[in-house]
Amino acid sequence: MEKVIFGKTGIAVSPITLGTWGIGGAGWDEYPDDVRLDTIKAAVESGINLIDTAPAYNGGKAEQYIGKALEEIGARDDVVIVTKTGNDYIDGQYVRNGKADNIFALCERSLKNLRTDRIDILLLHWPDPGVPLEETFGAMNRLKEQGIIGHIGASNLTKEQIEEAEQCTEFEVYQPQFSMLARENEETIRWAHEKGIGVMAYGSLSGGLLTGRYRTVEKYETMDNRNRFYGRFFQEPVFSRVMQLLEVMQTIADRHDAEIAEVALNWSRQKPFIDTCIVGAQKRSRVEGNLKCLNWELTEEEMGILDAAIREKIGR
Ligand SMILES: NC(=O)c1ccc[n+]([C@@H]2O[C@H](COP(=O)([O-])OP(=O)(O)OC[C@H]3O[C@@H](n4cnc5c(N)ncnc54)[C@H](OP(=O)(O)O)[C@@H]3O)[C@@H](O)[C@H]2O)c1
Repeated sequence: MEKVIFGKTGIAVSPITLGTWGIGGAGWDEYPDDVRLDTIKAAVESGINLIDTAPAYNGGKAEQYIGKALEEIGARDDVVIVTKTGNDYIDGQYVRNGKADNIFALCERSLKNLRTDRIDILLLHWPDPGVPLEETFGAMNRLKEQGIIGHIGASNLTKEQIEEAEQCTEFEVYQPQFSMLARENEETIRWAHEKGIGVMAYGSLSGGLLTGRYRTVEKYETMDNRNRFYGRFFQEPVFSRVMQLLEVMQTIADRHDAEIAEVALNWSRQKPFIDTCIVGAQKRSRVEGNLKCLNWELTEEEMGILDAAIREKIGR
């Protein structure tokens, strides 16, 4: 698989990253352990060399699956692991804590879960309003000085917070939400990319909605991410507008003998300010199917058609 240089980190990474929030298991469809492990193996075997995870993904469960899968296929050195800090999942709730002692404790736990002695890229998951960024990034700097982590960045920061972070650390990676339905971070992403910050976009499939898999509005459990995290897309009035957008995507998918999901992924990854798109999947077939997007590209005309449809139907 052709790789891209991941901004200032200089690391050559796959344009598609495996996302493991779902594999962790809370708030997503449940799959047997062996299927989850096989998904991670499928990603690595298919040439994906960037894996995204977090201690907050079911309190470290996702990290544990990664550690086990990579150990079983002896692939730790072939993979760049991105994990996060400052956020945990305790008793069914997400809990932010950016204090230095917690940053150290989470890192120790991540290393153990991932069965490794180093974390290639460590991101602040969400800022903790009760703790200055200086303290959080200061702790991350210390881990970097000790050689435990390779590169530092964050997800979910505003432009102003990134600027503040840059005063405290060598800020190299930004992980925002970005998809055909979520363009609110686009300006910050362009700005970050121009500065040489590596950009990894999450939610490229808007929690699976941009695959065409969901055709009716359903009621989900409170903590189900189709209700919680991506709930704004899975409810009316947006849901029906997304269905109209899917029709446009289907026409373009048909032209390329591709799936709708591939159109969503190519729309994101072909934006010049996106280095890699993180895609969550819990089955080998999904990973392999989604990677087919790398065999073709949207034409400039098709990008224009999609951008116009997003503006018209989604208002973005
Ligand atoms: N930094 C942050 O705050 C943050 C926030 C959100 C996400 N992330 C990262 O980004 C990753 C990706 O985002 P996400 O997982 O939230 O959402 P996503 O990638 O937009 O969508 C994942 C969903 O799409 C489904 N899916 C994937 N390929 C499919 C296909 N070909 N056909 C049908 N369904 C398909 C998956 O189903 P199955 O699970 O059933 O396979 C899953 O339900 C996460 O896993 C995580 O690593 C980071």
